[in-house]
Amino acid sequence: MVSPINRNRNGNLVVYNLMRSNTKLVRVLWTGVWVLAFIGIAAAAHRIFALEFPEKFSRSNSPAAVLDIGFTQHKMLTLVHVLPGVLFMVLGPLQLSRAIRNKYLNVHRWSGRVFLVCCLIVAVSALTMSFRMAIGGVNETVATVFYAILFVFCLTKAFIHIRRREIVLHREWMIRGFAIGLGVATVRPIVGAFFAARRLSPHEFFGTAFWLGFTINLIAAEAWINYTRGRPIPEQTLVLSELSTTVE
Ligand code: HEM
Repeated sequence: MVSPINRNRNGNLVVYNLMRSNTKLVRVLWTGVWVLAFIGIAAAAHRIFALEFPEKFSRSNSPAAVLDIGFTQHKMLTLVHVLPGVLFMVLGPLQLSRAIRNKYLNVHRWSGRVFLVCCLIVAVSALTMSFRMAIGGVNETVATVFYAILFVFCLTKAFIHIRRREIVLHREWMIRGFAIGLGVATVRPIVGAFFAARRLSPHEFFGTAFWLGFTINLIAAEAWINYTRGRPIPEQTLVLSELSTTVE
């Protein structure tokens, strides 16, 4: 639950009129989040197995075989990126769960700290990978560097806001940061569609796939934030009974 009472940038108390969000929409959104998290975990698991047991999991007869070479050459860097990536996919949805926040605030706090450390490792390793092993060349490097920096920026903002007890702003920046990280899972079906179309090589389409995946998720996050954002009400006109509605 998002607290309706927060401080604004000037430190004044602001009371938010949080509207009740559409239950069906919330359900669709959560299904989407878990499907993407599952895709992310599956991609990470496949990469870990392909690195550890290449004879069983590398795809020598598939057009995707070209992807395996770079990851094998940078095994340690790939593992440093992918292992905290798995934790990101598991902890991210739990961090956004209202039920967990309400019932187990301490769990939310501690798993939030672990989550942020994982994000930092994922971002630093992503930046290194962007320059050393981008399959999609310069286009992919620009996309992944841009989004890795934006990812860190959003999560740093989220961290600063929660230190100041600005819960509404903390929630918004966490949603943005999480959506960007979840973008790597949105990239997968896009890459799959490019492979299926057989018109471009991975070198040609990988950059575009990364741009699309991250951007689609960020737009979805921004739309959700706007849809659920409350309008500030002057403190004096606050009627406490109006505060019972909550937002996901
Ligand atoms: C803003 C966040 C992220 C950025 C910018 C990023 C960037 C990258 C880059 C540049 C690569 C190398 C791609 C290539 O060689 O062409 C990569 C690979 C990979 N990333 Fe990320 N990543 C991010 C977050 C994550 C997260 C949260 C996961 C969680 C599972 C993840 C999982 C993977 C996996 C599994 C690979 C190997 C790809 C494969 O097996 O096909 N990444 N990432």
